[in-house]
Amino acid sequence: MRTPWIELNLAKIHDNAKILTERLLTRGIGVMGVTKVMLGEPHVARALISARIRMIGDSRIENINRMREDGIDAIFVLIRSPFRSQAAEVVAGTQISFNTEWSVIKELSHAAVSQKRIHQIVLMVEMGDLREGVPKSQIADLIGHVISLEGIKLLGLGTNLACFGGVKPDAENMQDLSLLTKAMESKFNIRLVMITGGNSANLEWLSKTDDVGRINNLRLGESIFLGLETLHRTPIEGLHLDAIVLVAEVIESKTKPSLPSGERGDNAFGQLCTFTDKGNMCRSIVGMGRQDVDVSGLIPMGNFDILGSSSDHIILDSTRTPLNVGDQVRFKLNYSSLLTAMTSPFVEKVFLNLRP
Ligand SMILES: Cc1ncc(COP(=O)(O)O)c(C=O)c1O
Repeated sequence: MRTPWIELNLAKIHDNAKILTERLLTRGIGVMGVTKVMLGEPHVARALISARIRMIGDSRIENINRMREDGIDAIFVLIRSPFRSQAAEVVAGTQISFNTEWSVIKELSHAAVSQKRIHQIVLMVEMGDLREGVPKSQIADLIGHVISLEGIKLLGLGTNLACFGGVKPDAENMQDLSLLTKAMESKFNIRLVMITGGNSANLEWLSKTDDVGRINNLRLGESIFLGLETLHRTPIEGLHLDAIVLVAEVIESKTKPSLPSGERGDNAFGQLCTFTDKGNMCRSIVGMGRQDVDVSGLIPMGNFDILGSSSDHIILDSTRTPLNVGDQVRFKLNYSSLLTAMTSPFVEKVFLNLRP
């Protein structure tokens, strides 16, 4: 098989999704599986659906189209605010989208009317993280306009934390969202049925709270795929941490000094690196580099260290476990490495436990 490849163990992804779904269900919270880091891979979507996830969220309409065209039967949610220019495509391809802008919602309304559909929207509320979201003080005004729009149904409210500003979902901001929900319901005499409180970073809040308030949905990506909660990257009990592994091939293995020799300037990436003299060492090079993956988020699965990388190479200190040319070495990945490896055309995608 062509290296490098990324190995996606669908049975383990299914297990992780099932465990989280069941745990959250006992708290009255439904799980939306977020496939954007998977580029909407239909095999992965099926693994989520087999874990009884009904809602699939993705930030890219292209990924949603890909899953739909592959026959995935789910409620598709566009979790990044739609581009106004793509309103018709969003209405045609999704049942729900997350929104913050009146001009976009109006465009969705036009598209829904002309396609004779009802498009459901969730209004995202800014709760401190300063990525997307309508300020709390402006939500009532927006709802007042939205509820009279043809072709649009206001499904609920949501927020996204721990993404841009690293703000933790906690008792206070989650309760704020619940209170805002209740206030809007009584002001407009409506029922908001979906209150989506956040992403994998909300699992810590969930484990600590007795009262989830009105929050009845979380959108989970990283916790399902990597088995980690995302505030401290601690492993979630019972989940597989190796559902996804990156495999690369050794293309050179030699004993060399640990210090470069000769006058030195910037390296290929404009960095002036420092080195420690450890004498001679076994150095192995794998045929994978920064054009394939964010190397800084790779975790070696073996007794070797990453010394550095260039576009096409990762240099390993393999003194403790000598490696031979042709050997395959395995790495676990953080979210950034997973995202880049999945997106790289040079990294083969290999699915394990694929159902016939
Ligand atoms: C709006 C939104 N919700 C949920 C998620 C999923 O986040 P995580 O992978 O941390 O669970 C993302 C990330 O892609 C997102 O942008």
